[in-house]
Amino acid sequence: VTRTPLIAGNWKMNLDHLDAIRVVQKLAWTLQDAKHDTKDAEVAVFPPFTDLRSVQSLVAAERFDLAYGGQDVSEHDSGAYTGEISPVFLARLDCQYVLVGHSERRQIHGETDELIGRKSAAALRHGVTPVICIGETAEDLEQHGASAVPVQQIRTILADLPAGDVVVAYEPVWAIGSGQAATAEQAQEVCAAIRAAIADVRGAEAAESTRILYGGSVKSANIAGFMRQPDVDGALVGGASLDPVEFAAISRFT
Ligand code: G3H
Repeated sequence: VTRTPLIAGNWKMNLDHLDAIRVVQKLAWTLQDAKHDTKDAEVAVFPPFTDLRSVQSLVAAERFDLAYGGQDVSEHDSGAYTGEISPVFLARLDCQYVLVGHSERRQIHGETDELIGRKSAAALRHGVTPVICIGETAEDLEQHGASAVPVQQIRTILADLPAGDVVVAYEPVWAIGSGQAATAEQAQEVCAAIRAAIADVRGAEAAESTRILYGGSVKSANIAGFMRQPDVDGALVGGASLDPVEFAAISRFT
């Protein structure tokens, strides 16, 4: 099985809709200019919800080869859920992906694996691929080693999830925004354990075709090492995705 690499940029709560237009335009031009030495990676951005319409218009008008999605989604399709965003709305804006269960959602908003599973199911119902984020805290790492918590998280999330394409993003919480990325070998070890857990729950074929990303202080200077690992199929990039030239360089991972 060949898994198309995915380089995804999570803007978090940065860049308003005017910045979004500037950054997406610059990113698309930089990627186009570099076409001759671009590996066949798929590139995606996850802007704030208020930017999505701008990104959709720009990508459609300019025919940019760029996927995009929301940073979160409701488990419900519609109703009295003030402040929530329906998967239907994301699908209507041509979002191919949506992040679910980012560690900041888990930590700040108390999201559980069960809720993340339901959000993933909601996305799948409407043809949006969930990018399911998992990863251990520094404390988890110390107490249980690197793999135990992310493996348990993915097992719980997948337990009741109907079949369908998902992407998994392994992000050690201690590596996020810290400048302290995991080593490529550490990332490989945990991503292999995650793939084995997926095989256990969903079968070998599903595990072989599921893309697993590494996230946590990824930049152009360290991406190549991660991409050489057999079980790392891409990256979820935070801070470095705000700079379109740096993000384009990451997506070339030479
Ligand atoms: O979603 C992205 C991650 O939280 C990684 O963020 O690249 O700024 O460490 P970072």
